[in-house]
Amino acid sequence: MPTPVPPPIGVGSRLEGFSYAIRNVVAEATRVEASGRRVTYLNIGDPVAFGFQTPPHLIEAVVRALRDGENGYTPAAGVWRVREAVAASYCASGLSIGPERVVLTSGTSEGIELALSVLVNTGDEVLLPVPTYPFYTATLTKLGARGAFYRTDPANGWLPDLDHIRSLIGPATRALVVIDPNNPTGAVYSTQTRRALIDLADTHGLVVLADEVYADLAYDAPVQPIATLNPDAPVISFSSISKAYQAPGWRAGWLAVSGGDRLDTVLKAINELADGRLCSTGPMQFAIEAALTGNDDHKATFVHALRERAEVTARRLNRIEGISCVPPRAAFYAMPRVDLPPGRTDEDYVIGLLRATGLLCVYGSGFATAPEDGFLRIVFLASPAELNAIYDTIEGFTAQFRSTA
Ligand SMILES: Cc1ncc(COP(=O)(O)O)c(C=O)c1O
Repeated sequence: MPTPVPPPIGVGSRLEGFSYAIRNVVAEATRVEASGRRVTYLNIGDPVAFGFQTPPHLIEAVVRALRDGENGYTPAAGVWRVREAVAASYCASGLSIGPERVVLTSGTSEGIELALSVLVNTGDEVLLPVPTYPFYTATLTKLGARGAFYRTDPANGWLPDLDHIRSLIGPATRALVVIDPNNPTGAVYSTQTRRALIDLADTHGLVVLADEVYADLAYDAPVQPIATLNPDAPVISFSSISKAYQAPGWRAGWLAVSGGDRLDTVLKAINELADGRLCSTGPMQFAIEAALTGNDDHKATFVHALRERAEVTARRLNRIEGISCVPPRAAFYAMPRVDLPPGRTDEDYVIGLLRATGLLCVYGSGFATAPEDGFLRIVFLASPAELNAIYDTIEGFTAQFRSTA
């Protein structure tokens, strides 16, 4: 008698709709690689994957912590002196905040997840920009809540449409996510827009979830925390050493809660939730202190390299028939638009590009743009010479794709 095969074990229904396109496209890339074609990964914003190196004093801080026996659990909110360093860096930017309002997290991502988890009930809404960063939609799905998507306008430097935001606010709205500088568009918001966003949230009693992970990577000047514009507004700021300090694999980040005592209950709940996951990685917390108090000369070099790559990207893409691209002003992402033939989608274009050339980008609909709008996101961390070759390839593929409607 053959032994009966036990049925497969199912998953919770909350996971329906949980999707993260940035990594989902990799499944197709793996198939393309298996067929013998080399894949160039332009889908994930990891500076280390493109040869940018974690500053040595951060590595030394982690090694020292390991050797000094800092290998136990830390307090749930993180090592006090590291929280002091984070608070001091906010104070230096003009936002007066104490270490007791800082929580160290496993990257910006965990901070966002902790904040959303304490803020939303089933059915609640959180205002998210479109194009969006898909971690927000994925996390809200997991929590049984949803995004209310506000437009950002490519014709206006990808700035948020304030009237659209106002029109979306209702009884179920809990928070306003502001990603500035922005992934995936590379936008940097004007002071006027930033002030309008924070005042809008303040007036409507919404928490501003300020994703400031690219603040130091704006090409003209670092972007100051949005909370400096209105210290009384309820703001939670998130950041990490993943991007500007080139250590994404260390999962070392923080959140900071401002806005006076209005967010005290939220801060208490975040701390309770943080207790449940014990702590973020201990030795890596010391790298945060090294990053925020040590030499940061690498940043100028990095920003210079990014500006050069952004210029190549915008110039080359805008010369391609059927493609337009708003020049990025920060970070390492561009969100060009392809004028698609009728009936074709952004995913058709991106998967077609991958299969035909081995270039892996992410389709705009993974960031909640309409599939027929033809957006895609490109990570432009490769060297200018490599980028020029990449844009040659994109030019050839686009001509062929658009002519075979
Ligand atoms: C807008 C935005 N927020 C958060 C993150 C996650 O960053 P971390 O590595 O700090 O979790 C990213 C990573 O790409 C991002 O682009």
